[in-house]
Amino acid sequence: MSKPLSDKLDAFLDEEAISLHVPGHKNMTIGNLDQQLSFKKDMTEITGLDDLHHPEEIILKSMETINKHKDYTAYFLVNGTTSGILSVIQAFSTLPGKYIVARDAHKSVFHGLDLANATATLLEMKLSEMTNQYVGPNVKAEIKDFEDGKLGIFTYPNYYGECFDVQTMINRFKEKEIPVLIDEAHGAHFDLNGFPTSSLNMGADYVVQSYHKTLPSLTMGSVIFIHKNAPLKEMVLKYMTYFQTSSPSYLIMSSLELAQRFYENYDSDQFYSKRAQLVKKIKAKDIEVLEVEDNLKLIIRCPGYTGYELQQLFEEKGIYVELADAFQTLLVLPLWHSEDRYPFDTLLNRINEIKIERREPIETTKVDIRLQSGTYYSGIIEKTRWIDIDKAENEILGNDIVPYPPGIPVMFKGETVTQNMIKLMNYWYAQHVRVEGIKKHKIEVKDE
Ligand SMILES: Cc1ncc(COP(=O)(O)O)c(C=O)c1O
Repeated sequence: MSKPLSDKLDAFLDEEAISLHVPGHKNMTIGNLDQQLSFKKDMTEITGLDDLHHPEEIILKSMETINKHKDYTAYFLVNGTTSGILSVIQAFSTLPGKYIVARDAHKSVFHGLDLANATATLLEMKLSEMTNQYVGPNVKAEIKDFEDGKLGIFTYPNYYGECFDVQTMINRFKEKEIPVLIDEAHGAHFDLNGFPTSSLNMGADYVVQSYHKTLPSLTMGSVIFIHKNAPLKEMVLKYMTYFQTSSPSYLIMSSLELAQRFYENYDSDQFYSKRAQLVKKIKAKDIEVLEVEDNLKLIIRCPGYTGYELQQLFEEKGIYVELADAFQTLLVLPLWHSEDRYPFDTLLNRINEIKIERREPIETTKVDIRLQSGTYYSGIIEKTRWIDIDKAENEILGNDIVPYPPGIPVMFKGETVTQNMIKLMNYWYAQHVRVEGIKKHKIEVKDE
């Protein structure tokens, strides 16, 4: 019998793949989850095991242990941060007014807006000079239709671990009595010693963290934190039952509880000592290391190499990174600890074996990311056709174009295709970047 997925996963394990990507348990080498979480615990809502969708007993007690801040109540999400984001957006669809969204929102935000059939004001953005990625909205810019706002949505930090002044943005919204949802998918480890401050300390109404990304929890395990004064709490809880499976995984829930315990007992000393050794080893290869606000992320670059080529060099040695773009490669480090089983020495040895040639710096295609404010129109463009990218100039995009990861739409449906967009799509195509919305060099455009 063919079992392609299982065989491929086995192949990764056989080559002793080293993880510098999510999930945070790094192939079960961080947090020792597997020693605490037997497959036999994959149970269902039998007597005594409570019900995630109506928690009164042990699930309620377990969620109470996720006590990161006294003003917030935590709820397990077994369908990822995505399900929390969808639930909050859907709850606010019952109110008049507009969503106000930073443009670097994850695709789940745009999916939520589509489901709510909502129009959103997109905020003016700032670009990071270091990574060439969005790094939050321009916190000082005027906000069009501010008075009309019903919910602000921000991503903090960005995928590359860069932070913006989210406190100022939250304050601005609070002054106007507009509640705020912070997508802190990449910040479940925030507030640990030496890492950035979580927006849980800044009065956000809703904060969603993907525990699975940076802490040792099973994939899909996330937590939504709801402020005691947040509006529409009951409505959000109701939609969480809509957007999540009716068969929640006890393994995921239990892994969230264990990840929280790991977080509370974490001592970052080992982390910083290993991180320093790793940085030294990478630099010894003449690979540049860029440091961002979140110390869990490292960005590496090498003259003459695109980020994709650097990724390939690491992968040839069985080291898997989080993602690459034209300029750089992103590493998500493990939260090393005293009893971890992370193959740290093997990692250093494998990096040692990477062969870097001296190359002339290459000219990379600059991404023409839109920074100005704008409007997102939800809904589906019903009549579409697929055409070759090269023939798409002046056509209306029929679907969002989303490089994945990071899963942030770079082009929205409804936008007119420009020469620069064609250039960028061709570049991704040539570099084999995974892009949702491009198939066999074709994109979907509106059919008149
Ligand atoms: C910024 C951001 N928000 C939300 C999500 C969705 O998180 P999850 O995979 O936990 O559903 C992601 C996933 O990559 C993300 O990068």
